[in-house]
Amino acid sequence: MSVDVLLGLQWGDEGKGKIVDVLTPHYDIIARFQGGPNAGHTLEFDGKKFVLRSVPSGIFQGGKINIIGNGVVLDPALFKAEVEALETSCSNLASRLYISRKAHLILPTHRLLDHAYESQKGAGKIGTTGKGIGPAYTDKISRNGLRVGDIEYDFEKKYRDAVSRHETLLRQMNFDYNLAPLEEEWLEGIKALKRFRLIDSDQFINNELRAGKTILAEGAQGTLLDIDFGSYPFVTSSNTTTAGACTGLGVAPSRIGKVYGIFKAYCTRVGSGPFPTELFDATGQTFRDRGFEYGSVTGRPRRCGWIDLVALRYAIMIDGVTDLIMTKPDVLDTFETIRACVAYEIDGKETEDFPYEISDNVRPLYVDLSGWQTDMTKFQSEDEFPEEFNAYLTFLEETLGVRIKIVSVGPDREQTIVRYE
Ligand code: GDP
Ligand code: IMO
Ligand code: MG
Repeated sequence: MSVDVLLGLQWGDEGKGKIVDVLTPHYDIIARFQGGPNAGHTLEFDGKKFVLRSVPSGIFQGGKINIIGNGVVLDPALFKAEVEALETSCSNLASRLYISRKAHLILPTHRLLDHAYESQKGAGKIGTTGKGIGPAYTDKISRNGLRVGDIEYDFEKKYRDAVSRHETLLRQMNFDYNLAPLEEEWLEGIKALKRFRLIDSDQFINNELRAGKTILAEGAQGTLLDIDFGSYPFVTSSNTTTAGACTGLGVAPSRIGKVYGIFKAYCTRVGSGPFPTELFDATGQTFRDRGFEYGSVTGRPRRCGWIDLVALRYAIMIDGVTDLIMTKPDVLDTFETIRACVAYEIDGKETEDFPYEISDNVRPLYVDLSGWQTDMTKFQSEDEFPEEFNAYLTFLEETLGVRIKIVSVGPDREQTIVRYE
């Protein structure tokens, strides 16, 4: 069997959590492959709303195994709080959630270092989620990291050595901090981790594949935040792209099946960095208000703008997307005209390629399409789609060269229209 991948094609928050939950009944195992508690994946069903950060979004559909893969960075303190909040609404959580021994740990000092580096950057700050993501991946790559499996072997010494190294760095940056309360919470988190099944997830996943099991790999963040292909340095510290599913789970490229690329009918971004189609006017505010565009982790208002098909085509190319999923077109329900950026003009020259550097010299070129001005949130099937919306879908499919399999018309699990199997 193969591993299907679901990932974001923009700057995150495309609705990955909701769609993974919807697709989960088709799979035996759901596995997160990268990122950490910088993610906030929202699910809504039966009038309830949940935001998942490290736990995969397949956890609510009973009986499925959920895996936190080796590519993830895990903060035990936040993980403990997350699973405790879930335990009442999630049956047998501890018996269905497995954690890779090779996943790296986010230490309390990683969080402090994240804040210290951001304050040092001043106006050039990345606008990180402050969860210690960059410093934890830095330690992984520089071969100084602590892994989940280490909690079973000689942990105390490894932890103290890492903290002492981090404290030297914090002192060098004259950063004021109080480690004790963070550390106490973190060590409680380590105890909580021990209640879970720690596995060699690479081996486990490949054994399950050989046994005919189906796996959905859940991405976090989005392709435009990828460490290699995003708008560097305003990116996260992992490979958010399809390739990240291979390294983040130990799955060979030849094992990848479908790649579901998810995008919003417009664009949002949290934190700093280029955003060619960003709107600073009433239209942008309407997206924010109607789409509740406030960070699910930090509560920060998300920057909003029109859909960017130059960026989207680039993401589809890097990820090898086989099926597209569109979310939140309902947010555009009231618009008379819908704009889509189809090319950039850079220093007077038109291009459809995503450039190395995006600065103020990039001017988005738009086409205008007719809005549908109909409430889509109650729609149950694509037969109900207004003519203008069908024209919009056709335009996107032709421009992007990939079919749109699912259209999501609201945050609830039920507000999902599957166009083909
Ligand atoms: P993720 O990080 O990709 O899982 O996305 P987030 O959960 O951070 O942000 C997506 C937000 O949009 C959440 O509040 C979802 O409940 C909501 N959402 C998802 N799909 C739709 C949709 O089709 N329409 C509307 N209006 N909201 C949606
Ligand atoms: P989900 O999975 C949106 C952004 C941060 C910042 C940059 C780096 O919910 O889509 P980091 O803390 O990772 O070092 O921050 O990346 N960012 C996200 N933006 N959704 C996310 O995750 C994000 N995770 C990180 O805002 O600009
Ligand atoms: Mg999110």
